[in-house]
Amino acid sequence: MLRETRNNDLSPFLRVIEYVDKNEVIGYLKYSLIYDRIEIDDFFVTEENRKKGIGNKLMSYLISIAIENHVENITLEVRISNEIARNLYKKYGFHEVALRKFYYGDEDAILMEKQVM
Ligand SMILES: CC(C)(COP(=O)(O)OP(=O)(O)OC[C@H]1O[C@@H](n2cnc3c(N)ncnc32)[C@H](O)[C@@H]1OP(=O)(O)O)[C@@H](O)C(=O)NCCC(=O)NCCS
Repeated sequence: MLRETRNNDLSPFLRVIEYVDKNEVIGYLKYSLIYDRIEIDDFFVTEENRKKGIGNKLMSYLISIAIENHVENITLEVRISNEIARNLYKKYGFHEVALRKFYYGDEDAILMEKQVM
């Protein structure tokens, strides 16, 4: 089951989509909806529940939220070595737009963007 939560104490823009199974959160996608754009802040599925389509469900839901809110684009940073996540993002129409040198201190990030509108 997917559910949405917010924590306005942290940021008025921050929202979380959670994937809940048997009362346990086994996946989540944290994002900021900032006027006409979305930034993905964190995206995670517990190791034992990967490759079962939960990431697909979370990302599809985020894209439907983006469309409903007339968002222009969705952006995110991903470790250059994270081929699994990069594959997922490409599948959903994200393009690599820039290299962020030493973004993670020890590793570069790729800035990816999906045009929604
Ligand atoms: C990235 C992550 C959230 C994907 O979650 P998931 O539930 O395993 O994803 P799904 O099973 O829905 O797969 C979605 C897509 O991801 C890609 N993918 C998933 N596992 C993959 C693998 N082992 N190898 C290559 N691509 C893979 C595929 O494009 C897949 O699409 P498909 O179902 O058509 O094959 C999960 O691997 C994770 O939590 N990783 C650690 C944290 C992380 O890297 N987060 C992203 C930070 S930017």
